Amino acid sequence: MRPLDQLRATTADQIAQQFVNLRGLFDKETGACVDEIDLGVTRTAWLGRSSGVLTHITSTWLRTAPKDLIRVVGAEFNKLRAHVESQIESRRRAIESGSDQAALAHERIDLSLPGVQRPIGSHHLIRQVFQEIEEIFFSIGFSVVEGDEIETPYYNFEALNIPEFHPVRDDMDTFYLDLPKGAPSPLLLRTHTSPMQIRTMEKRKPPVRVIVPGKVYRRDNPDATHSFIFHQVEGLAVDNDITFCDFTGTIEYFVKQFFGPGVKTRFRPSYFPFTEPSVEFDVSCIFCGGSGTSAAGGTCSKCKGAGWIELFGAGMVDPAVYGFVNYDAKKVSGFAFGMGIDRLAMLKYQIDDIQVFFQNDVRFLRQFP
Ligand code: FA5
Repeated sequence: MRPLDQLRATTADQIAQQFVNLRGLFDKETGACVDEIDLGVTRTAWLGRSSGVLTHITSTWLRTAPKDLIRVVGAEFNKLRAHVESQIESRRRAIESGSDQAALAHERIDLSLPGVQRPIGSHHLIRQVFQEIEEIFFSIGFSVVEGDEIETPYYNFEALNIPEFHPVRDDMDTFYLDLPKGAPSPLLLRTHTSPMQIRTMEKRKPPVRVIVPGKVYRRDNPDATHSFIFHQVEGLAVDNDITFCDFTGTIEYFVKQFFGPGVKTRFRPSYFPFTEPSVEFDVSCIFCGGSGTSAAGGTCSKCKGAGWIELFGAGMVDPAVYGFVNYDAKKVSGFAFGMGIDRLAMLKYQIDDIQVFFQNDVRFLRQFP
């Protein structure tokens, strides 16, 4: 900013004219501000402490003014400063209320527009199969209980008559949790829903008739019928006079309800430390029609050539288990089963790879609305 004398402002009128010019300049700049950012720049340009116009006026006009004109410069300066401050404030208010109006206009709802249609999801097929199974068992007097997916070795193994170092544990290798030193017990992802047999019998006295749907984990290598996460429904019925016939009758009833009357099934002897006698229950392979040979001529990859697909393990509850839950093994008897739900779903809905249940591909999921 040049000094007043260089601007040829040496009289009171000439000085006043310089201030009028400045004021015009300021009004023009402020009028062009459309938002708070513009206004911030203008405020700094005029009121900024180190290099604002008013600071320059103080140092180059006010301090150097001749003695007889200093009052004039001072009075004009004060008028200009008051004008600048009040205009900036009123412009700020105008911008603020303008942006409020703009925001209101933006948010106003136009009821004449068509609504946004959001796609409605559906239950995953596994959940649908859980529900089908639950309804069948409700109809014959069972109720549903659920358990935690994290278990202690005691409930997952020992109380099911599987002591440490029992070879059957090898079939149920699983994932153990990293716990801080001094944790009271190791914890693992349950390998089956059977721990809930123990937890249920600990809490209830016979008669007991429950099913337990849930997720389980094993370190199995993935293939068409194996996954390391899968789903089971445990069943347990204990009372004073439950026989093997009640057991087979219940299973046959369930399978006919679930698959329809034409399904071909078989029981075959098996071994579980917590049931005696134990069986596996198989359904004839729907993918190869029970022949064990695929349409292309090779071995059927679903049943691995057996012609049957194993659906679940089961049996009469081993009396040793009653000892862990304070039931009198001489008075009670019962049966238990653990079904692989993913395989039930595969057979019923002709799904040839278990992995699709876990891939969340909507093209698959949409086929089961
Ligand atoms: C058990 O898990 C026993 N707890 C079942 C049981 C319960 C026996 C009560 C007696 C009394 P098993 O390991 O066979 O048994 O598994 C049961 C079913 O789960 C199998 O028949 C199969 O249908 C399914 N299954 C097992 N491993 C897998 C896997 N990796 N992926 C998918 N399904 C599996």
